Parts: sequence; structure tokens; C-alpha cells
Amino acid sequence: MTATLFSLETDYTVDMAVMDNLDYLHKIPDESIHLIVTSPPYNIGKKYEKKALLEHYIAEQAATIAECVRVLHPKGSLCWQVGNHIGSDKEVIPLDAILYPLFKEHDLIMRNRIIWHFEHGLHCKYRFSGRYETIMWFTKSSDYTFNLDAVRVPSKYPGKKYFKGPRKGQYSCNPLGKNPGDVWVIPNVKANHCEKTIHPCQFPVELVERLVLALTNEGDTVLDPYLGVGSTVIAAIKNNRSGCGCDTVAEYIEIAWDRVNQYWEGTLKTRPMDRPIYDPTLPGGGQ
Ligand SMILES: C[S@@+](CC[C@H](N)C(=O)[O-])C[C@H]1O[C@@H](n2cnc3c(N)ncnc32)[C@H](O)[C@@H]1O
Repeated sequence: MTATLFSLETDYTVDMAVMDNLDYLHKIPDESIHLIVTSPPYNIGKKYEKKALLEHYIAEQAATIAECVRVLHPKGSLCWQVGNHIGSDKEVIPLDAILYPLFKEHDLIMRNRIIWHFEHGLHCKYRFSGRYETIMWFTKSSDYTFNLDAVRVPSKYPGKKYFKGPRKGQYSCNPLGKNPGDVWVIPNVKANHCEKTIHPCQFPVELVERLVLALTNEGDTVLDPYLGVGSTVIAAIKNNRSGCGCDTVAEYIEIAWDRVNQYWEGTLKTRPMDRPIYDPTLPGGGQ
């Protein structure tokens, strides 16, 4: 069932459906989406997935990726956020390595392999505990949207000046802040995170917001074909972009609509992008 419940008179819309993503993507016109951000199942037997043979999983991903490439705008970006698949004998299989060739089959160009580092997760007994996942960012061409100024972070030494040479006395860093780099330290959504819902694997809204701000302009459309509880759509509408996506689990889409409505009512809590990481050595955790 597709439910375009709200089509706001402002310059963005929301469309979220309970649907398999291939069916959903088939309805979207060619080259109409400016940014795709998603986190697919990792084939590790979570509540919302059946663990399949790796070949089957890769074939399913290939079909969804092909449709995503079709709907992606020529100046658009595609961001696939993944962790590890755990194989037999508890072998760690990095999904970005496995899936990368599927994107190259479509001649997509990788712009960054972003490391998303977080502090919380399972404590492993027989290997080091996993504390990062990756975001593969691809574009269709070398003419793509990249708004660096929209996502700069505070410089380490904001008042630092050149002490010699022709620019002596001038500030040596950009007054708007520095490039955030490709290692992003952002808390994952665990039990005490303000965005936590019943979904076992939400990604944080602030992670998607950085991509939305950098890779799209106001009024553009952002799609998530594995939408879960709508974190991508929230990140889009918070920043005056249209958001759309689908999930096969009706309960997740209901929660996604609740979150969108809470956002419109001004009651939705999301972790702000500029909040420092909790540091137990500082008073109040440095918050
Ligand atoms: C890792 S979760 C994504 C969570 C999401 N990023 C969020 O913040 O809520 C993957 C989601 O993909 C959904 N899913 C799995 N197969 C699907 C398919 N074929 N079409 C649409 N959604 C699917 C699952 O129900 C699950 O909610």
C-alpha cells in the first residue's frame, strides 16, 4: 500500500510506503532522485530479514542497486551504509568490499568511503569488538552537488595565523570551519539515544543530515529504499528537502509516519549535529 498522506504546500513532500523496494522503485521516473541514502539488511538474521546464502543476498542487492542507479539524477549521489556480514565459523565479511563491484558495474564513481565510528555495541569475546561501519558514497558523473560549506565543523585552532611568507598575519584556516573528513564520530542509536524506537538497527538522523546538506540543495528529493522507521526522511524534511522511501514491515512505516508527524508538530527529538560526543572524563560528560 502506498500512502502519500501529506503533500505539503511548502516546497517539499513526503511519500512512504509499505512495499518491497523493487516495486516501489519501479514507479519512480528515471533520473528524478538527487540523493539515495540507505542501510540495507546485512544478512545476519535480524528480526526483519531471513538469512540467505551470500550469493542470493548479493543478487538481491544487485537488483535494488540497478534500480537505484536508474532513478538517480545525473548530478546525484548514492550512499550505501553497511557493516559486516558474519559468515560460517564467525568469519567477518565486509559488505562494502562485497558490494563495491555491483556499483562499478554501473560505472559509478566512488567519492569517499566514509568510516562511521561509534562507541557502543556488542562486546566480542573472540575478536575485537566492531566499532565502525562504512558509507560508500558514489556519484554518476564528475558534475555533482557538493556543498562543503554547509557541513564544515569547527577548526582545531580557529585563531591560527600564518607566521611567515606572503600571507603572514592572515588566518590559516577557513573562518567557516574545516572539512569534516572521512572519519565521522557519531553515536549509534542504542537504548538511551533520544531517537530510539523499536527498530533494532536505526541509523542516527544526524548521520544522514550531513549527507543531505552536503549532497543536495533545498527542494531536492532524497530516497531510502530500506527506510526502516524513516530516519532518512526525517533528515530530508528537517532540511527542506522532499523525502521518500519504503519498507516491507508495516509497523516500521507506521512509526516513520508518527515521527514525521511529531516533526511537523515540533515534538520530535533528534540529536543535534553539533552536540559534542559524551566524554566521561569531563564535567556533565562535556554535553
Ligand atoms: C538496516 S534497516 C534500515 C533502518 C533505517 N536506516 C532506519 O534508520 O530506520 C533495513 C530495513 O530494510 C527493510 N527491508 C528488508 N528488505 C526489504 C525490501 N526488499 N524492500 C524494502 N525494505 C526492506 C527491513 O524491514 C529493515 O527495516
